[in-house]
Amino acid sequence: MLSLEEVKLHLDAADQAHVLQFWSELNEAERDVFLQELSQLDVSGLRGHCEGAARAAASVAASLDDLMEPVPPEFIGSARKSDKTFLAHWENEGLLHISKNRVGVLLLAGGQGTRLGVQYPKGMYNVGLPSGKTLYQIQAERLHKIQELAEAKHGSKCIVPWYIMTSEFTLTPTEKFFKENNYFGLDPVNINMFEQRMIPAVTFDGKVILQGKGKIAMAPDGNGGLYQALVDNNVLEDMKKRGVEYLHVYCVDNILVKMADPVFIGFCVSKEADCGAKVVEKVSPTEPVGVVCRVQGVAQVVEYSEILQATAELRGPSGELVYSAGNICNHFFTRQFLQNLTMNNEKHLKEHVAIKKVPFVDKCGNEVKPTKPNGIKMEKFVFDVFPFSKSFVVFEVVREDEFSPLKNADGAATDSPSTARNALLHLHCRWAAAAGATVLDQDGNAVVLTASESTVINAPAKFEISPLVSYFGEDLEKLKGKTYHSPCVLDKEQ
Ligand code: UTP
Repeated sequence: MLSLEEVKLHLDAADQAHVLQFWSELNEAERDVFLQELSQLDVSGLRGHCEGAARAAASVAASLDDLMEPVPPEFIGSARKSDKTFLAHWENEGLLHISKNRVGVLLLAGGQGTRLGVQYPKGMYNVGLPSGKTLYQIQAERLHKIQELAEAKHGSKCIVPWYIMTSEFTLTPTEKFFKENNYFGLDPVNINMFEQRMIPAVTFDGKVILQGKGKIAMAPDGNGGLYQALVDNNVLEDMKKRGVEYLHVYCVDNILVKMADPVFIGFCVSKEADCGAKVVEKVSPTEPVGVVCRVQGVAQVVEYSEILQATAELRGPSGELVYSAGNICNHFFTRQFLQNLTMNNEKHLKEHVAIKKVPFVDKCGNEVKPTKPNGIKMEKFVFDVFPFSKSFVVFEVVREDEFSPLKNADGAATDSPSTARNALLHLHCRWAAAAGATVLDQDGNAVVLTASESTVINAPAKFEISPLVSYFGEDLEKLKGKTYHSPCVLDKEQ
């Protein structure tokens, strides 16, 4: 731990002396905690961070329109359009790698989930499924199942290690939750939780924000903080020790996420990709999602705000959007790629400006909850490594099968607990229908699914299939001819 004098020197040098303005009002214990916090700051980089944040917030993003092109078709696979035999081949290849312990999954779970507005990690959220399962439990069960499928196919018992990136906000409650739930039946030896770094929030004129008299307003450094966190926590060494060569990285909030999806893994490996992204077709030119494309020849995600509407609206010969590849934060990396990146390029990753309302103490020491944005949080994004890829591929998947994120509280039109729950229930009703089963809704009426219902406004019935029973709709022949009255959860024993 640094001494008060050392901290003072660093803060003066960074033009941040105001951080200690309430020091004389703190008691012994508060001073200890604050000094501890200040010692952990990257004080040598503080001036650069504060000045850079203020500069970045004031600058206008360069227009990328003239520099963009879509990813060429030969680097794109598609769950919708690729030949069935290819899809089957990729699935088999993916399962082979899983069975040989070469595949790991990495969950990004360090976010604060401010839009959802709960005080606990998003993974602990229960969206109101008939089973009452949380996002963490659903994911754990998918891991069980994919290991089982790989073993059944290739005859060797295997492990898919689960790396979980947390932050100061999410680590302790996540650890506790996993422990209380007996790690959902997984061996804790194969679950590796680690913490990403935190960085100070800064005012528009480049001053660190004090959240309390003895506390700096800190925020996680964005999901692109992953790469520094891999280094800080020796995660790549752990992967190497286990023989893990391929990593599937995903967000905590997508209830439909196919962890370690063998088709995606198999596709990326067959193409000898070092980096890959799953995408869904954008629903409209104005849908505010990033687009996976090329900028000056290298892979990149371009945000909706970085392009002109005319570019977003460009259409190809058959009427499809030219920039249709919506990023869903679902990525493939080889260990070698991550190794090179963390050694050579992590420092060059771009930082993004997020303008937020950051609670602070005013000059008189009163705690204030601002009503308008007052601060800058700098964030790195997980996809900002794409430009460093030497062999980048894209895999397009069906939105209704694979993407329904939980971002907002109920009441919002999109990405809420209701839309996430309905998306999963809808998918499971479709699996049951495809298997030849009849599902009855709560009024006893047989559920009939039409194509137009794929927008998932309402769930057709409360019919849920445990991931322990089926990972992507496979092995449901036993449902043929049966009738299920909702609410109903199809569990392993049934
Ligand atoms: P979001 O950008 O949606 O953020 O994160 P969030 O924290 O979940 O929600 P808001 O914006 O505060 O409402 C996308 C994914 O990236 C992870 C999140 O946990 C989520 O899985 N993430 C985000 C991190 O792991 N670290 C971060 O610093 C930020």
